[in-house]
Amino acid sequence: MMRMTLQFPTGFVWGAATAALQIEGAADEHGRGPSIWDVFCREHPERIFEQATPQVACDHYHRWPEDVAWMKRLGHTGYRLSISWPRLFPRGDAVANPRGFEFYDRLFDALLAAGVEPSVTLYHWDLPQSLGERGGWENVETVERFADYSAACFARFGDRVKLWATLNEPSWSTLNGYLTGIHPPGRQEPRAAIAVSWNLLRAHARVVRAGHEAGKGSRIGIALNLSPIRPATPSAEDRAAATLADGFLNRWFLEPAVVGRLPEDVLAFYDRAGLLPRISTADLQLMAGQSVDFLGVNYYFPNYASAGARESAFALNNTGRPEEDCVFAIGGLFRFVRNPRGRYTDWGWEIDASGLEELLVRVHILRPGLPVYVTENGIGLPDALVDGHVEDDARIAFLREHLAATHRAITAGANVRGYYMWSLLDNFSWVNGYKKRYGFLHVDRTTLARTPKKSAGWFRDVAVANALPD
Ligand code: BG6
Repeated sequence: MMRMTLQFPTGFVWGAATAALQIEGAADEHGRGPSIWDVFCREHPERIFEQATPQVACDHYHRWPEDVAWMKRLGHTGYRLSISWPRLFPRGDAVANPRGFEFYDRLFDALLAAGVEPSVTLYHWDLPQSLGERGGWENVETVERFADYSAACFARFGDRVKLWATLNEPSWSTLNGYLTGIHPPGRQEPRAAIAVSWNLLRAHARVVRAGHEAGKGSRIGIALNLSPIRPATPSAEDRAAATLADGFLNRWFLEPAVVGRLPEDVLAFYDRAGLLPRISTADLQLMAGQSVDFLGVNYYFPNYASAGARESAFALNNTGRPEEDCVFAIGGLFRFVRNPRGRYTDWGWEIDASGLEELLVRVHILRPGLPVYVTENGIGLPDALVDGHVEDDARIAFLREHLAATHRAITAGANVRGYYMWSLLDNFSWVNGYKKRYGFLHVDRTTLARTPKKSAGWFRDVAVANALPD
């Protein structure tokens, strides 16, 4: 039988993604200030698997030349990273740290020299601690400071960086910071969650405008964690629960970013519940006028909504023990349940590539032709280095399925321009610490030595051929 290959469009970007806090380390070096995550890990070590901290992470701050060289050797043409706000502005105010700027100057120059195009996220959850202490994203001052910090990045790096994302996963950071309480600031207050989500949306719109005004040919987008939300059963109640959950988790961020308006049903729901912050006409106008030039889609798993949770309950499996449950239930509204036919990782995340295809096609229907990048997609595994090798066949299978799904979405008309695997390096996986490994490069936790996994070579062949063997 003749073997077919799935060819990707010319210029399709192949690469990996990281975030500053998860890889840089050098937490106290050269004038960097603390972020809310540094302090959270220090003050609540019991909430992080094995009491891990991002203090050293992958030491990318010192080892970046080697990491850039790996990207080149592995055939990557793009790299998604984030800038550490507290490295540039250690106290979150107007006082800049020149050494922080110099670090990214060198990194961007090296990436471009290696033929790897940077795609930069301005905020991947590492809020300067001093802003956190003054109310964080609940305080409109943070919106102002974020706009200033972003403008400084556009001015300094805009000659070399052409792809910018304002925020990483505002839905996930809001939910975990203010509803489940699993991430800093560790609160469980729906009203604050909605206020914070609104401030993040305002911050996003401000920075899209600033990026466009800065000129320099920059394209400004946002990276959203989208998850198809399917009814657990065909009942009317579960279908309504799925629509509601989709509104809270997906549409509340997707629609403003992509079509410039808030979803009416969610707005009405929050209003009825008395949870809505004051929304000014000026902000709505700003939002309507600032749509993204591209959308970043971060996809990991779908969810299944079941109506009528008795009470709110949240838990994340951060140990990698398969018998531990992930729990997400909003009292009186809905809860997510496990797919009885699903395949799951040891951390309880379902593997289902059809969800990625569904999301990419959905964005295409919402705004036909909008350029989309898969800005994160990957699988956390307890990868082990044996005799100098990591045989991560499960990751290769995962990638094969998700790249085929991406290809199907392109065939259906979606304008998908690139794919960034999460992640380049095994890194600080937030509350999961370091056991949950995502990298193309294995990182030894004692020596920090990098070793390419089997999947890295497999992906290089796909990237170089710009095609997936069928
Ligand atoms: C995304 C984040 O939510 O998922 C990444 O943008 C994160 O920063 C990735 O690491 C995987 O999640 P986790 O919690 O398993 O590290």
